[in-house]
Amino acid sequence: MKILVLGSGAREHALVLALRSEEAGHELLAAPGNAGIARVATLVEVDMVDPVAVASFAIDQAVDLVIVGPEAPLIAGVADELRERGIPVFGPGRAAAQLEGSKAFAKRIMSAAGVPTGRATHARTAAEVADALDALGAPYVVKADGLAAGKGVIVTEDRAAALAHAETYLPTGPVLIEEFLSGPEVSLFFLSDGDAVRALSPAQDYKRALDGDAGPNTGGMGAYSPLPWLAEQFGSEDEFVAHVTETVALPVVRRLDEEGTPFIGLLYAGLILTPSGVRVIEFNARFGDPETQVVLPRLKTPLSRLLLAAATGTLEDEPRPEFSPDVAVTVVLASEGYPEKPETGRALSGLDEADAVEGVHIAHAATAESDGGLIATGGRVLNVVATAPDFRTARERAYEAIGRIRLEGSHHRTDIAARVE
Ligand code: AMP
Ligand code: GLY
Repeated sequence: MKILVLGSGAREHALVLALRSEEAGHELLAAPGNAGIARVATLVEVDMVDPVAVASFAIDQAVDLVIVGPEAPLIAGVADELRERGIPVFGPGRAAAQLEGSKAFAKRIMSAAGVPTGRATHARTAAEVADALDALGAPYVVKADGLAAGKGVIVTEDRAAALAHAETYLPTGPVLIEEFLSGPEVSLFFLSDGDAVRALSPAQDYKRALDGDAGPNTGGMGAYSPLPWLAEQFGSEDEFVAHVTETVALPVVRRLDEEGTPFIGLLYAGLILTPSGVRVIEFNARFGDPETQVVLPRLKTPLSRLLLAAATGTLEDEPRPEFSPDVAVTVVLASEGYPEKPETGRALSGLDEADAVEGVHIAHAATAESDGGLIATGGRVLNVVATAPDFRTARERAYEAIGRIRLEGSHHRTDIAARVE
């Protein structure tokens, strides 16, 4: 197949690597891609947030499938244009992508579909924010309504900080004040063709910048899959997945279909397992980053087949995706100053040495070639990904590998997957 992947992060590198690992010998194109993706796919110059440009390119090049990585092209309507012109695309249209783009939309759909989530109030003024904070009590959870690259949420005991966070976002629209939910978090991905869904294996993300879940929220500093502790609460991973499929994924997909905005793509359910049951904290309309980097290396079913089935409405005919019993751990290498103010442009080296560690590969995020070497071009620079039969070995491999990479001032968490070792 000829496949175009849109995006430039480690998630897109993971997608391309998974497609490349199939025996089918696909022709892989990526826009804009990065230095790592360039090694396994052909980078092409198409503005990924321009629906007409992407569709024209896909038609000219006779692309069989377009996979949309990040949310920006979805919100820009890229999938709508492709679908209108008959090109199979894995990614929801603009309307269904509001599940991620607008927390108010997501809450409305969940309420209509009877999906369990935290109680929340929309506040439009500072006075409404104050009332809602006092009604729900501490710890306070305040969320910006639109896309904020993982930075729109604050969870704090400090009422003044909660108010201040709300006030930074109020000029752009209402903010959500949500009930605090406590428990372990799970990221569960569903492929959806608008009607049927297929779950992938669960993963856990580390959103805070520093060890012990301290520091500010980030786009994600590491992840692991599967989650062995799910079995304690649910009997098995399969039972957990079946439960979330019935109570979360299918009701949402049905509701969106009823509203005439079918969800064709990746439904990412961000869940908290509270003592009173599973609650949705957020939906995303695309693969998670960095969870994808640990889920896809464990996937045994050909990814292209699943994504094409979702894009063409034939997921019902596909058996459940199969996963290796091996585990995967990923650790993100971040630039100095990330997430507040990352330093970029610095030399990056040692990747071949890191890649040489058994079971390890590198997923590039913000990298570019410069003067014959690599430089870091953003906050989250790359992921080391380690697979192994057990978490102790996977962690050892990941940390051995990241120790071989040199980037002045860089930082990473040292406790990824430590809790499951
Ligand atoms: P979000 O951007 O909605 O995924 O939120 C980012 C992070 O904030 C989540 O991964 C949780 O760790 C935390 N969070 C969000 N909502 C809540 C909530 N209602 N209660 C507790 N923590 C939350
Ligand atoms: N890992 C969090 C996200 O992709 O939004």
